[in-house]
Amino acid sequence: MTRLIFLGPPGAGKGTQAKVLSKNCKVPHISTGDILRTAVKAKTELGQKAEGYMSAGELVPDDLVLDLIRERLGQEDAVNGWLLDGFPRNVEQAEFLNKLLDEIKQTCDFVINLEVPDNELVSRMLARGRADDKEDVIKNRLDVYREETEPLIAFYRGQERLRSVDGSRAMAEVTSELQQIVANNNNEA
Ligand code: AP5
Ligand code: MG
Repeated sequence: MTRLIFLGPPGAGKGTQAKVLSKNCKVPHISTGDILRTAVKAKTELGQKAEGYMSAGELVPDDLVLDLIRERLGQEDAVNGWLLDGFPRNVEQAEFLNKLLDEIKQTCDFVINLEVPDNELVSRMLARGRADDKEDVIKNRLDVYREETEPLIAFYRGQERLRSVDGSRAMAEVTSELQQIVANNNNEA
């Protein structure tokens, strides 16, 4: 059973690493960004409400995101583990998640903080070219990260579950460190 939160700035490799670990650990990769992008594409009510925030690099309001997470973690495939990518994104979301996990009697094993220098983040995103990978939007996403999300490092450090990982190395090297963290945890359990 593996339950991890991927923290880290835009472009750090949260999605890339979560995808690989999800296969290895056989637990779902839950990305609020992917869920929201799917909703935008399908032009659902959620998608229509979220689109403007996303294209500006702002956080989508909590009331849209919290229900979505409650519902997703309640689905059957998430009972025996999950990898959260892009959630929580601010202190309110982190407090909501703590309460929700209490309610459903689950605990998160680790919060993985992927560390990558800004210049590397920017060049990775520009090379990818997603709809929100434009220079001014990237700058805003980084600002929003510093202001809203980075405080979660201290939030989770207080709970002694934080593992910082150098995400600037080659993808496979980062993966192998993450696999080691998961394996050590499973040995202890
Ligand atoms: P979201 O989809 O979460 O995007 P993000 O946080 O900006 O992060 P990215 O997906 O850009 O980066 P990543 O860390 O996943 O890196 P990746 O693996 O792709 O959010 C998008 C928007 O949705 C937000 O702005 C907000 O509006 C909204 N949203 C989402 N969640 C929300 C929430 N909880 N609350 C409110 N709003 C929310 O890698 C990036 C690139 O680098 C890829 O091309 C990859 O191939 C490459 N790469 C990865 N690892 C390496 C490596 N080791 N070496 C070289 N290249 C690498
Ligand atoms: Mg991502």
